[in-house]
Amino acid sequence: MGQNFKLYSQYYDLLYKDKDYVAETDYLIGLLEKYHSKGNKIIELGSGTGKHANLLAEKGHQILGIEQSAEMVEIANQNKKEGVSFQIADITDFRSNISFDIAISLFHVISYLTNNGALIKTFKNVHHYLNKEGLFIFDVWHSAAVHSQIPEKRTKILRNQNIEVTRNAKPVIYSELNIVEVNYDITVKDLNNGSTHFFQEQHPMRHFSRPEIELLAYTTGFEVIHTEEFLSQATPSVETWGVCYILKKL
Ligand SMILES: C[S@@+](CC[C@H](N)C(=O)[O-])C[C@H]1O[C@@H](n2cnc3c(N)ncnc32)[C@H](O)[C@@H]1O
Repeated sequence: MGQNFKLYSQYYDLLYKDKDYVAETDYLIGLLEKYHSKGNKIIELGSGTGKHANLLAEKGHQILGIEQSAEMVEIANQNKKEGVSFQIADITDFRSNISFDIAISLFHVISYLTNNGALIKTFKNVHHYLNKEGLFIFDVWHSAAVHSQIPEKRTKILRNQNIEVTRNAKPVIYSELNIVEVNYDITVKDLNNGSTHFFQEQHPMRHFSRPEIELLAYTTGFEVIHTEEFLSQATPSVETWGVCYILKKL
């Protein structure tokens, strides 16, 4: 992914200020209870600016966040709560001195792994560091929804007291690869002096079907114990962009 999230990181929390991290964390805790997760040691893959990690720590969990963007980790470190730590590393090959009861990866991080080699390495790595019967919970883009809804150009504008960020997203669809390359054009306007700054990022995203994830799980030592629409808990359909997978280490 190269330089992804390098500049984007500076505007990440503003761009996603309406994302309900509290509700998502409560949802996750509900899943842990429902699937009888034991222990409180969590590894989070692609921990971003650390929002879920901090909220989980407030509920008594210990979290190690693995994040490849040094800029995202810098922001996360400024706000981190007791019981939270971050490591700059790639989720395909991170190393740890301890094992974990639970692995999580939220907001489509696994969809950033666009090739099978990276997916297999990541799942094997998670398997290695998870305790017996540990859960691995993640959400990914859902192929059925991508085929049915077909991604199109979108514009998002957000502002705070100092800046206005305009993000134009232009998708390029690679149907035979199950990849949508999302090309972001981002303009940041300084509301104090009117100056603007422009940059671009490319986020290639892979989408998945349940049989694909089941095969990946099976070959890396997991069982898919449940899938549902992320947050709403609905049965995945062509309307479901993000599907939540709950895997158990065999
Ligand atoms: C959409 S953000 C989600 C961040 C956070 N989980 C959240 O919910 O706000 C995706 C994050 O995954 C990270 N990421 C993507 N691929 C990664 C990889 N191979 N190794 C480590 N981090 C990765 C990105 O740097 C980015 O911070």
